[in-house]
Amino acid sequence: MAVRIAPSLLSTDLGRLREQVEAALEGGAEWLHVDVMDGRFVPNLTFGAPLIRAIRRFTDAPLDVHLMVLEPERYIAEYAELGVNVFTFHPEATVHVQRHLAEAQARGMAAGLALNPSSPLVLVEEVVGDLDLLLLMSVNPGYGGQNYLPATTEKIRRARALLDRAQSAAALEVDGGITTDTIAAACRAGADTFVAGTAVFGQPDIAAAVRALQRACLEKV
Ligand code: DX5
Ligand code: ZN
Repeated sequence: MAVRIAPSLLSTDLGRLREQVEAALEGGAEWLHVDVMDGRFVPNLTFGAPLIRAIRRFTDAPLDVHLMVLEPERYIAEYAELGVNVFTFHPEATVHVQRHLAEAQARGMAAGLALNPSSPLVLVEEVVGDLDLLLLMSVNPGYGGQNYLPATTEKIRRARALLDRAQSAAALEVDGGITTDTIAAACRAGADTFVAGTAVFGQPDIAAAVRALQRACLEKV
């Protein structure tokens, strides 16, 4: 099984962004996870288009953008223009979810939905055939460095079954509190894409930290 690590840029030292991103890619990270927060859907405020533009200037690596904002549809056109590869938003933050998935795809991006820990899978069930990615939050979104909520593991299992039943090839991503200790359970439960902030950029050797996560996942499958 493929293990895709998507380091979260939220945990980088922004003054050394390029150097740290390059180290993560050298370690085998496949995607770069960009957490866009608006201070409304989640309490924290982070970054948006200017940072995405800056990253695009120095790397071609796929940008996996996770919008924790109200009315994420307002950013579809702009992010497509910037070269975003995966556009993931929360169904809890908008109304016409299927329309927005279709628009993101029509503009050439992969489209994903993200669910808070308390949000049931039924929120995505009717659009499962429209998804390129399903992201399960394993912490309450807003901050890096929180602990993995153990109830997520069972939810991953049910999400895997939901995707399999629909014969969906969507990626199943887990986000929050992923470390070399917690990744194995998420991996075994059927996730294939793992966001990690602190466990990558909070480590002295960033490339080695990515490899350690891949190993921890594979070893325990
Ligand atoms: C949380 C973000 C995550 C976060 C993960 O709201 O969506 O992507 O950066 O950070 P860690 O891996 O430190 O929990
Ligand atoms: Zn995220």
